[in-house]
Amino acid sequence: MEPAPAPGPAVARPHTGGVSPAVQQTALPAPPLRDFGGGPFGIYVHVPFCATRCGYCDFNTYTAGELGSSASPESWLDALRGEMSTAAAAFDALPSRQPPVSTVFVGGGTPSLLGGDGLADVLEAVRANFTLAADAEVTTESNPESTSPAFFERLRAAGYTRISLGMQSAATHVLRILDRTHTPGRPVAAAREAREAGFDHVNLDLIYGTPGESDADLDASLDAVLAAGVDHVSAYSLIVEDGTAMARKVRRGELPAPDEDVLASRYERIDARLSAAGLRWYEVSNWAASDSGRCRHNLGYWDGGDWLGAGPGAHSHVGGVRWWNVKHPGRYAERIAAAATLPADGWEELTDAERYTERIMLAVRLRSGLPVADLDADGRAAIDGLVAEGLVALRDRVIVLTDRGRLLADGVVRTLLS
Ligand SMILES: C[S@@+](CC[C@H](N)C(=O)[O-])C[C@H]1O[C@@H](n2cnc3c(N)ncnc32)[C@H](O)[C@@H]1O
Ligand code: SF4
Repeated sequence: MEPAPAPGPAVARPHTGGVSPAVQQTALPAPPLRDFGGGPFGIYVHVPFCATRCGYCDFNTYTAGELGSSASPESWLDALRGEMSTAAAAFDALPSRQPPVSTVFVGGGTPSLLGGDGLADVLEAVRANFTLAADAEVTTESNPESTSPAFFERLRAAGYTRISLGMQSAATHVLRILDRTHTPGRPVAAAREAREAGFDHVNLDLIYGTPGESDADLDASLDAVLAAGVDHVSAYSLIVEDGTAMARKVRRGELPAPDEDVLASRYERIDARLSAAGLRWYEVSNWAASDSGRCRHNLGYWDGGDWLGAGPGAHSHVGGVRWWNVKHPGRYAERIAAAATLPADGWEELTDAERYTERIMLAVRLRSGLPVADLDADGRAAIDGLVAEGLVALRDRVIVLTDRGRLLADGVVRTLLS
């Protein structure tokens, strides 16, 4: 996974807003837009389809059986075109007009289920409505089992610049616990095929701490990742999400919950192996071989940039206003067919206090760190204690997590905000 585990990064709980019927009935876009913030502008496209549902995943995604006739990739693509055209018109009406799009990220769900031609159509829909910067980063997530050399060649020809593959593990029994359907060797083979098709930027997603995973299993996964020669790795601890099949198994005692100490030692192992191979952390869960290998789209989220999130359940953020789309693909398509409004289910304008909290939460996790000047008096008062505990270091008046601090990043954030 790229670090935005939902369509768009985690956002503060809505405290206000909601789309009034009056707004929906007009041709005006809902929610009320604010001007662009002047930073990078990204587009996230959410593809809500998966061949099967992995037992640990609570993303907004559906199998064909779950959707029945309520939605299909075709109706989704039509609706996506409609949403983008409405959004582009709304952005054009803003005083600053829309800036060029610096990054596009097609995520899911399983974008590779659309095939190379389907993903080319998605990028075409973006281009038909927005101006892509000449050096735009264009990423798609892909499941290893639905890729091939021809798929990657089609994507490269269409203008994609970056591939993110959901590898998770190289151990068969771990993949089985996760309900992943690819064979252990397929992600590395897919990464090679992507590079042979001309992709300089390829990411592999790992999950660590799955019940039944041993240190040796993790080492085998890291061996495979390093053999693949990718320039980016994301590694996430397994989260047992409420409401998932995995959570039910844990509750019934059929699976043990991930152990915090094991998770910490696995993280250290991952960081040591990746660092030794020249992949440096730039966000707590992300490593890159060079600055140009970092995911610019996700950096845009973490740096508080603007983005349009298109597709069912996607979140957007423009000029301090956030909105989130209706989640179900069928309702999403109906909303777009019924009115030329954004398919928002709700919106909020962040207060200064919420913006402050979010800024601290995101910046602390970055290697570039958090300038002391961005902290309020309480936050500054907490720094000495965090330094004494060995959780952060101060470099040129910037707070940066130490190795130990990376294991306890959430606690550092809580201390700075308390
Ligand atoms: C939601 S998926 C979308 C891309 C693609 N379908 C895949 O699985 O790689 C993005 C990433 O999120 C990860 N992910 C989803 N649920 C997770 C969880 N509960 N804990 C840790 N990682 C999770 C997936 O394993 C995957 O690498
Ligand atoms: S393939 Fe990816 S998005 Fe689909 S259910 Fe599995 S983890 Fe979730």
